[in-house]
Amino acid sequence: MYLVAKRLDVVEPSPTLAITARANALKAEGKDVVGFGAGEPDFDTPEFIKNAAKLAMDKGQTKYTPVSGTVTLKDAIIKKFERDNSLKYERKNIIVGVGGKQVIYNFFMATLNPGDEVIIPAPYWVSYADIVRLAEGVPVIVQTKLENNFQITSDELKKAITPKTKVFIFNSPSNPTGAMYSKKDIESLCDVLIKEKIIIMSDDIYEKVTYDGMEFFNPAMLSNELKERTFIVNGVSKAYSMTGWRIGYGAGNPEIIKNMDTMQGQSTSNPTSISQAAAEEALKGDQSCITEMVKAFDDRRKKIVAALNNIKGVNCRTPQGAFYVFPYITGVYETDGFKKLLTANPNTSKSKLFCDVLLEKYEVACVPGIAFGDDSAIRLSYALGQANIDKGVERIAKMISDLG
Ligand SMILES: Cc1ncc(COP(=O)(O)O)c(C=O)c1O
Repeated sequence: MYLVAKRLDVVEPSPTLAITARANALKAEGKDVVGFGAGEPDFDTPEFIKNAAKLAMDKGQTKYTPVSGTVTLKDAIIKKFERDNSLKYERKNIIVGVGGKQVIYNFFMATLNPGDEVIIPAPYWVSYADIVRLAEGVPVIVQTKLENNFQITSDELKKAITPKTKVFIFNSPSNPTGAMYSKKDIESLCDVLIKEKIIIMSDDIYEKVTYDGMEFFNPAMLSNELKERTFIVNGVSKAYSMTGWRIGYGAGNPEIIKNMDTMQGQSTSNPTSISQAAAEEALKGDQSCITEMVKAFDDRRKKIVAALNNIKGVNCRTPQGAFYVFPYITGVYETDGFKKLLTANPNTSKSKLFCDVLLEKYEVACVPGIAFGDDSAIRLSYALGQANIDKGVERIAKMISDLG
């Protein structure tokens, strides 16, 4: 008899969480680790949001809420969609979950039948493929190119479609590349998706973190027909520095929402009542906290891209959104020093080997590109102070120079 369920054989533990755990363990041993691993803003949650949580507790909002979220939070989400995206939804179109991650999980559990295919452009957020597998779907990975700004082209998309294709995952700004699609780019992809009657899952979690005046668009914003076919995932984690509060939300077809509600009702039930009150205030309150945070990210973004491109063998594109850079290090793989490392560690992928040595010997935590489906790169989050960014990049340069 198996001690554990075979269901889990198809998934890997989250590599970003694993890197963060190892970096924290080294820190606990007293090592001065620079952590580029974590996917969360380094700012505190704004005071007015924390106050809303305190008030909710004082008012006794500490009981079960409706499974799919409170009416007042749903109304705040509906207003957000109207204000920011000119999209009109009703309460029956909205579900609140325990972070964007749970919303994505419940969406796939509620929509996929065994064998349904989900097209995922790579590099992709680490959890997409594993969630699809857990829901008995089949991830169909389409490799995008650095020279195309990591965007899937309509030809690449067409080639990936089969009669079993059910969902296309769209993520702009992207984790890990920071790439953003323009309205025109989205239109040409959607022409293909509409014809094939494919559902679009648009992961908008980095909507608020954009640079250089890039305007945010998701497929639902382009036409009513597309809105009908799009399921939007968003949340408060990244925009309001609320990763620990665990509030995400989804908007889409009421039938899908109803199925997700059933999933949630038989698993977690409602997200924390106090967090819901805080998220409501975040969405309704003064949005200038976002502007300040994005300005700080923007300064760091410019500096880190320049510093990384100064290192021999590193090629880093300037991201248009989110707070990650995804430099290609294929030039480093060509060095004699790295080739020797590879010979000694033949069973490790290149990006993982690079990150393992970087962490253990140079005390810098980065996530290997292989975790995002692209072994040519590593991912660095610049959600940490400038002094630490400088120190970390210097150490990366030192490792690469030591490799020869
Ligand atoms: C692309 C993307 N989608 C969704 C999430 C989920 O965020 P949360 O569950 O904190 O709302 C993350 C978090 O890292 C992400 O990077």
